[in-house]
Amino acid sequence: MHGWGHGGPYSVRMVQEFDKVGVVGLGAMGAGIAEVFARAGFNVIGVEIDQAAVDRGRAHVDKSLSRAVSKGKLTEEERAGIDARLTFTTSREDLADADFVVEAVPERMDIKKDVFSDLDRICPPGTILATNTSSLSVTEIAALTGRPDKVVGLHFFNPAPVMKLVEVITTVSTSEETVDLVSEVAKRIGKTPVTAGDRAGFVANALLVPYINDAVRLYERKVATREEIDSAVQKAAGLPMGPLTLADLVGLDVCLAVMDVLWEEYRDPRYAASPLMRRMVAAGRLGRKSGQGFYAGTDEAPEPRPTGRYAEMVREEETLDLGEMLIAPQIDDAMRMIGDGYASAKDVDTAMRFGCGYPKGPTELLEERGAESVVTTLVAMGEYSLTTVAVPAPLLMDRLPDTQEGEGHGGGCACHG
Ligand SMILES: NC(=O)c1ccc[n+]([C@@H]2O[C@H](COP(=O)([O-])OP(=O)(O)OC[C@H]3O[C@@H](n4cnc5c(N)ncnc54)[C@H](O)[C@@H]3O)[C@@H](O)[C@H]2O)c1
Repeated sequence: MHGWGHGGPYSVRMVQEFDKVGVVGLGAMGAGIAEVFARAGFNVIGVEIDQAAVDRGRAHVDKSLSRAVSKGKLTEEERAGIDARLTFTTSREDLADADFVVEAVPERMDIKKDVFSDLDRICPPGTILATNTSSLSVTEIAALTGRPDKVVGLHFFNPAPVMKLVEVITTVSTSEETVDLVSEVAKRIGKTPVTAGDRAGFVANALLVPYINDAVRLYERKVATREEIDSAVQKAAGLPMGPLTLADLVGLDVCLAVMDVLWEEYRDPRYAASPLMRRMVAAGRLGRKSGQGFYAGTDEAPEPRPTGRYAEMVREEETLDLGEMLIAPQIDDAMRMIGDGYASAKDVDTAMRFGCGYPKGPTELLEERGAESVVTTLVAMGEYSLTTVAVPAPLLMDRLPDTQEGEGHGGGCACHG
């Protein structure tokens, strides 16, 4: 029984009273999300378009649970309990008594609209509706319903059962109670929630994808080989993998879609997708999933080192440090985000640690280097037109050590326009 008393006073609802959770769409993300909720003790109803899709979703969950059992992370008994809490259907009408619904259908506004207007009709007025969208407007989705105060983004990371971060995305209409409740739910399913407003890319993708794009730009400008770029950043920031390896893993098409959404929202050259990224997507070289990418589809033999002015500066003269050339703009992006009041320093670090596997978040990386070093890198890159950061973030400039007026960062910050 779910004791919410649908439609009753909102403030008395508590996460303990949540029982039935709907997950709509059981693809790469939805199947994992359904598993996560069932493992945390919720009764889950997974909804798909047809029986074949239900079977695929169920098989995905089965495989993941079997793996957990064989690794000793789940007992057979626990697994049986999880199985008993999971039901599957092809009818959205079966969500008529759901307390909470997470939508994970394909990233297309027409499909999301269809699902949300239906959910709003089917579910009781107190049901919270969440979308797992990565790039569409949560505000626009919420506005389709008669309960925009109870609609949020709940952005999981892939693979959902493994990645700890969830971004709770609020709109101007989301009520505080909804945010509190959803954050509590996120904790109850073992995740680390970060709350942020409805901006393109949210926190993690808005910091990660432009950094990948920067790496593609440097590669395209023949500053270094893919191996040099990847290992330099790994070394500089202790990352588990370099940005071009990550691009292959995430998918070039996904990276391009995020860049285009950022560009659409800000029209800032910082967010212009690298021409090479666009060409690779046009050619169907999407990374691991298409079998061809920066590494995928090659024999993975090291590339010949580029020659030319940029390569010389990085390699022989060491005018610029390759790893810092990718870390500094990302720190700058993070400081801009914090300075805008979009996310707190703590949330920015949490998002990169738990969503992207960073051992240290951007503000910790800044702390380690000092603002002067970061600004110096940005300025030097700007002098050679090697960055899309036009001017360092005000918050970064504020961190520069006090010097005489006008000398704060080595002779002017006009990185370039
Ligand atoms: N894949 C990722 O890495 C990732 C990460 C975070 C967020 N997301 C977001 O999660 C959402 C789902 O992405 P995905 O990668 O799981 O997609 P996917 O294509 O793997 O899965 C989508 C599923 O939805 C089903 N579906 C389609 N229309 C439906 C409908 N009307 N009702 C019910 N089910 C329907 C499809 O049959 C499919 O199984 C998207 O919004 C995406 O942006 C994806």
